[in-house]
Amino acid sequence: MPQRVVTNDDLTEFWETSDDWIRERSGIETRHWVHPGVQTGSDLALEAARRALDRAEMDASELDCIVYATLSPEHYFPGGGVFLQRKLGLSGLPALDVRNQCSGFLYGLSVADAWIRTGQYRRVLLVGAEVQSLALEYENPDGRKMGVLFGDGAGAAVLGPTQDEERGVLGTNLFADGRFAETLWVEGGGMTNLPWISHADLDSGKLYPSMDGREVFKHAVKRMPEALSALMEEHGVNATDIDLLIAHQANLRINEAVARRLGLREDQTYNNIQRFGNTTAATIPIALDECARSGRLDRGDLLALTAFGSGFTWGSALIRW
Ligand code: ACO
Repeated sequence: MPQRVVTNDDLTEFWETSDDWIRERSGIETRHWVHPGVQTGSDLALEAARRALDRAEMDASELDCIVYATLSPEHYFPGGGVFLQRKLGLSGLPALDVRNQCSGFLYGLSVADAWIRTGQYRRVLLVGAEVQSLALEYENPDGRKMGVLFGDGAGAAVLGPTQDEERGVLGTNLFADGRFAETLWVEGGGMTNLPWISHADLDSGKLYPSMDGREVFKHAVKRMPEALSALMEEHGVNATDIDLLIAHQANLRINEAVARRLGLREDQTYNNIQRFGNTTAATIPIALDECARSGRLDRGDLLALTAFGSGFTWGSALIRW
């Protein structure tokens, strides 16, 4: 996480909002934002990658592939994967960029798992990294709708093969529904716009994210439990078998509803949105790291992951830690 901690009260400098409103609607109390111009997304990704490699007791040179998930790339192209690769002092190995927003880490996990199972790559560095604070609408009063929710940060995992049938990624499932593409998106700055970028788009806010929050909420509370329930059924898992659920951190109220629908107790779930806000593709690996380091996740535990976001895209995973 970047060092700079921004409280809800701090945000009243930019928008008409309040600590009460933000806490009550989303559960968020603070978020971490980069100091503009000091840290980029791939800098955060590099730090997360180094820590993940340390924990895996591996050197970067042992990696076979990088998968990099973000919605806040440093450049229109190339994607962030090559910048991270360069910062790790590597060249040659493939770097895949994943553009599935809040579901990015799960989409990346599914791809990495399949590559490892087929033997195409053995050691995959999977990263979710976001710098969203630089692309919020500070000058527009409506910017508060999205602005209060987002945080910056990065998380990483190193995946590799195991001969132990009982451990590792038991399964993943992924979904998308493009009928809702415009419900949570950045309208401007793309090739359907003529010209693709304009002063008018900048002035009208089309280069910033916009969302129908209620519609997203409604789908999120339904789709995450639906995906995870299907995966649990496929693998013969009951709610009582789950040691830990990490759901995407977009809204604490969403996650409370998801846990309720799945029949999980509070102590079976982990949330850190209170401290970090929504860090999009980085939320799941950041939470995973906290749980692994604090002992909340032990070897042999059954871990469930689920995420939902822009696209709409969503999915879930079951992992024997
Ligand atoms: N501070 C104060 N007031 C605000 C703020 C704010 N930051 N934002 C909106 N309001 C006002 C609105 O203008 C509105 O006022 P009005 O009633 O006078 O029109 C009122 O508060 C209610 O606004 P709603 O948008 O209806 O508030 P809601 O209860 O739906 O909560 C929220 C908004 C928190 C965004 C919620 O809808 C939500 O969490 N949605 C899902 C978000 C999500 O899951 N996103 C997916 C991941 S993000 C990604 O993929 C990139």
